[in-house]
Amino acid sequence: MKVLAIFGSPRREGNTAQMMESALSAFPKEAEIHELYLGELTFSGCGPCRECKVVGNCVIDDDMQQVYKEMIWADIILFGTPAQFSDVSADIKKLMERTWWMKGALINKIGGYVISGRRYMESAQNTLHAFMLRHRMILGGSGALGFTFTEMGTLENDPLALRDAYYTGVRLVEMYELIYGGQ
Ligand SMILES: Cc1cc2nc3c(=O)[nH]c(=O)nc-3n(C[C@H](O)[C@H](O)[C@H](O)COP(=O)(O)O)c2cc1C
Repeated sequence: MKVLAIFGSPRREGNTAQMMESALSAFPKEAEIHELYLGELTFSGCGPCRECKVVGNCVIDDDMQQVYKEMIWADIILFGTPAQFSDVSADIKKLMERTWWMKGALINKIGGYVISGRRYMESAQNTLHAFMLRHRMILGGSGALGFTFTEMGTLENDPLALRDAYYTGVRLVEMYELIYGGQ
């Protein structure tokens, strides 16, 4: 079971990261878990080149090349993002744009997500759903929302946040067993 956890908040130990750790704690010991902190990588959004249409892959020489390899490697991809201006973080959105060339490469990978924020998280959910469905990934569960209630709030305000994140992990494991069990 190969799991890629994509941390999409600029804060390495913030609310989103706590929810990610809770989700990851649901995976069995034998799961191989790779973690990527987008805030520590250097990469742009999709550029003007359209070179992928010619050569079949992204030619921008930055840290996304490493991210592509990890995404292709994984069976399960877990996204974590704070709500930022009513949507996913800029890093998550940049990553999404940059996968434009990956048509078919993410098919049937199991995807899940956690989001932390105060309100307006629906658009972030929609963006994540659309991304996974357009890549023909399998949406594992309904995701977890952690409510901070105030502008700079913490998850302590929401007793369900870490629990729901954990059950997101549980559901991803269930989906994996359903699809790969007995192989
Ligand atoms: C630029 C920016 C925009 C934000 N926009 C929203 C928003 O639209 N909705 C919301 O609920 N929270 C918003 N927040 C608050 C964060 O989503 C919230 O504090 C989140 O829990 C931070 O996660 P982190 O600790 O993982 O960074 C915003 C924060 C920043 C820095």
